[in-house]
Amino acid sequence: MPSRTHSCGQLRIDHIDQEVTLAGWVNNYRDHGGLIFIDLRDRDGVTQLKFDPDIAPDAHAAADKLRHEDVVSVTGKVVSRGENEKGESLANPKLATGAVEIEATAVAVLNKSETPPFNPIEAGMVNEEKRLKYRYIDLRSERLQNTLRIRHKVAKIIRDYYDEEGFLEIETPFLCRSTPEGARDFLVPSRVNAGNFYALPQSPQLYKQVLMASGFDKYIQIVRCFRDEDPRADRVAEFTQIDLEMSFAEVDDVIRVSEGMVRRIWKEILDVDVPPIQRMSYTEAMSRFGSDRPDLRFGLELVDISDIVADSDFKVFSGALAEGGCVKCIRVPGGASLTRKQTDGYAEWVKQFGAGGLPVTKLDNGAFATGVAKFVEPFRAALQERTGAVDGDLLAFGVSAKKSVVDRVLGELRLKVAADMDMIPQGQWKWVWIVDFPLVEYNDEQKRWDSLHHPFTAPTDTDIDKLDPSSGGDPGAVMSKAYDLVLNGSELGGGSIRIHRPQTQQLVFNLLGIDEEEARAKFGFLLDALKFGCPPHGGLAFGFDRIIMHLVGTDNIRDVIAFPKTQIGADLMVDAPSPVDEAQLAELNLRVQTHHQPDKAV
Ligand code: AMO
Repeated sequence: MPSRTHSCGQLRIDHIDQEVTLAGWVNNYRDHGGLIFIDLRDRDGVTQLKFDPDIAPDAHAAADKLRHEDVVSVTGKVVSRGENEKGESLANPKLATGAVEIEATAVAVLNKSETPPFNPIEAGMVNEEKRLKYRYIDLRSERLQNTLRIRHKVAKIIRDYYDEEGFLEIETPFLCRSTPEGARDFLVPSRVNAGNFYALPQSPQLYKQVLMASGFDKYIQIVRCFRDEDPRADRVAEFTQIDLEMSFAEVDDVIRVSEGMVRRIWKEILDVDVPPIQRMSYTEAMSRFGSDRPDLRFGLELVDISDIVADSDFKVFSGALAEGGCVKCIRVPGGASLTRKQTDGYAEWVKQFGAGGLPVTKLDNGAFATGVAKFVEPFRAALQERTGAVDGDLLAFGVSAKKSVVDRVLGELRLKVAADMDMIPQGQWKWVWIVDFPLVEYNDEQKRWDSLHHPFTAPTDTDIDKLDPSSGGDPGAVMSKAYDLVLNGSELGGGSIRIHRPQTQQLVFNLLGIDEEEARAKFGFLLDALKFGCPPHGGLAFGFDRIIMHLVGTDNIRDVIAFPKTQIGADLMVDAPSPVDEAQLAELNLRVQTHHQPDKAV
């Protein structure tokens, strides 16, 4: 078999009359009574092959036996597609190689394919479970080939960019110590150290901080992270971060360098200019959008109307307000068209976020009608002025004794209503940095303080003395030097300036309920590294997969990963996770007590 002279995406009219050899997969087969046409496919594209029994009878006979997904090598002459009897061009303008075809003279079948479980051209119509099981076939589809090509290009842009900015790529270990960061660790038993376990990294957070203590100044790594957490559409157990850390850096430095990266990627991949990205405080994001990752592509903002309805007879409102809560509403333009069934459906749906229900009303002919109209009609003028409501709109009220519940409920409702009513404009990029996060929040259930980011995030300098509640501090009022980058409502990345002094780190550990003994046991190396001359430093990690999701326009993270896990962490192609045999377990000093075989659902 002669080696390939070209790829299947290369041939143009300039190649006419050349003898070429291509290799690839049979994408399509058409018998036009005598002439056989085959589309040959490889990573680069598709080229039409023509088999004419008068020109090459042996090749024609061989072509007659080809079926899709057979792997072949073909030699022939590049010819123009020519014209039909009416003088119309037969060129296919949709195909890069569409002006030409190959008049095939020889075919070698490199590997005959059995009838595949599905045709890669039709992969979009096949259920995901099947596509994941036969991932090698799915990966032949144009969509996934294109996605993985973009993924490669973006990785290259990232490496070039950070190289120019003076960052060094340094690998950190995959076999680490278990230090839960919020999600659960994947554990790896050690054979040599019986009874001991490594953990796969949830992120290289502590190693990158140690690299700063080691004087590396600027670090970057495109790195796999592992989190055994509950599934969501944009989360998987095994994902990739673009992880960076900088010494002697303040918030603005990390933001500048990170913004530069997304600007370069969006320009080079999509030819889109990313403008300077606005910043919004956490407090503003929560109060206007009910979320710290607000989608700014549409309105439906949360409006506080507690003062307006302060004297309301409506017990739901007055009760919540008396308990120190609040009443907020969102105006849904044109929402009067929603049926009672639909609004009742929303009232049920919001209960999962802690709402007791969802009072609504509609504005019709200059007055509130339906729902809680009679309770809010006395305040109509003020409500209309505050919300901008006009005839045809719907107002939905979030009410609770807890402000955080109101924000959560209306924040979720805002997203659902916008999606249901087709209010989210496509093709827009709405970027925002969320800044000025509180350092900690109180966990009512567990009766303790939790980090909003992670325990290594630096408090704002002027708030350090508020960290210790035992000496009259007010931890809830401590702000942090953390920041998140949000695009169209999805968190692309997050980071912070870190604590670089051991005393401050211990104060934060104390607040989080990690006493000195536990801190020493878990994070002794970090406290020591901070002790022996650690520069001030900070950084950020982007979700690499999420960036690719935006670039290719999918909301399924599995679409941008070559070999993804399902929502329950299964690799359907290799059938992992799987039981292991007794001998393997014995060698690891392990015994399995109950064996739970997860459902094989996606
Ligand atoms: P964080 O936990 O916010 O921060 O993660 C950083 C970014 O990684 C992405 N991400 C995920 N993507 C897919 N699947 C997941 N399960 C998943 N979890 C997170 C998100 C997120 O914004 N060490 C810190 C960063 C730092 O402080 O520098 C960290 O890991 O896009």
